[in-house]
Amino acid sequence: MSPSDNPPVGAPPASTSPVPAAAVPTAAAAISPLDDAAVSAAVAAALAAFAGAHSLDALKDARLAHAGDRSPLALANRAIGRLDATDKAAAGKLVGQARGRVNAAIAARQVELEAERDARVLIEESVDVTLPVERGLLGARHPLETMQERMGDVFIAMGWEIAEGPEVETEWHNFDALNFDPDHPARAMQDTFFVEPADSGLLLRTHTSPVQVRAMLERSAALLDEGRGIYVVCPGKTFRTDELDATHTPVFHQIEGLAIDKGLTMAHLKGTLDHFARAMFGPDAVTRLRPSYFPFTEPSAEMDLRCFVCGGVDPDCRTCSGTGWIEWGGCGMTHPNVIRAAGIDPDVYTGFAFGMGVERTLMFRHGVTDMRDMVEGDVRFSQQFGMEI
Ligand code: PHE
Repeated sequence: MSPSDNPPVGAPPASTSPVPAAAVPTAAAAISPLDDAAVSAAVAAALAAFAGAHSLDALKDARLAHAGDRSPLALANRAIGRLDATDKAAAGKLVGQARGRVNAAIAARQVELEAERDARVLIEESVDVTLPVERGLLGARHPLETMQERMGDVFIAMGWEIAEGPEVETEWHNFDALNFDPDHPARAMQDTFFVEPADSGLLLRTHTSPVQVRAMLERSAALLDEGRGIYVVCPGKTFRTDELDATHTPVFHQIEGLAIDKGLTMAHLKGTLDHFARAMFGPDAVTRLRPSYFPFTEPSAEMDLRCFVCGGVDPDCRTCSGTGWIEWGGCGMTHPNVIRAAGIDPDVYTGFAFGMGVERTLMFRHGVTDMRDMVEGDVRFSQQFGMEI
């Protein structure tokens, strides 16, 4: 029986069937399961389509067209069931082998295309770990910050507390409560930035001593009721109308200390300062108290350090001007009026206070000769102090 004797099953009459332009096969493309040439052509078309599929998606479309349920070979396969028994075996072999070849071709092309995709993905998504990365500079805290912390830690280790106060301070805390008389020339000792308007009563604190007053007011109840002595240090910013030069800056830092308790004497002050000096400058640090004047301490003293450059032996030393000593800060026994201003009886409680410049300490400790380096923000300066965070 020739293929022409056996028209395709389910095919509409050719005259009424529009030939589909799309690749999606329709019944119109159906072929006879006994038509050797047509089956071979379907296989050839399928193999060509798979070879021409250059992506997995394209292969999927080609599979649908040439091996899908409605592909010519699938339809031919279905048509076998309706053949005469005598033709079934030959048709089954012809179509079965054809479908086998088509399926094998799909599988092979699938493997090829997957391999291509994997190779491409490996290249596209690969990371070259040997490429140089853009390294950002790590930040670190400013040496003045770490210096203040280091100074505070000396006192924390002795059981003292860190106290704080505002940088915009009331005139009362900064001067009056510290026993500066309204007309006292000592007020002019410190060139002050006042806050407008003129009668605001506010200024930028000229020293950290107002924190003494705040600390006493805050802690007087615990002192009087529970006998808890007041031992505080306050590191922080201070302001004076100085021109910026190698040894002055209008914004600078101090650390203030205050101790109020029963029975405190100048020996406690000297012992505390000596310990502080040795913690900052090493076991050989030598200190000296030199009589001075502050309205809020009586007696008052300047605290000097043995010159760290010449050791106190070079009469021509530029650092200590041949005096052998350099000034580190002021100190003294807390004035009874200051203790009284905080509501504490100065006949029962005594105390001492001190204040030193943090910039000066950094200069002495690290041989910094120009204060401007500390405020200019050049990392080459800061990096010498390490990357402490
Ligand atoms: N406040 C003083 C100053 O800035 C220093 C000082 C502090 C003196 C505490 C005595 C006691 O110069």
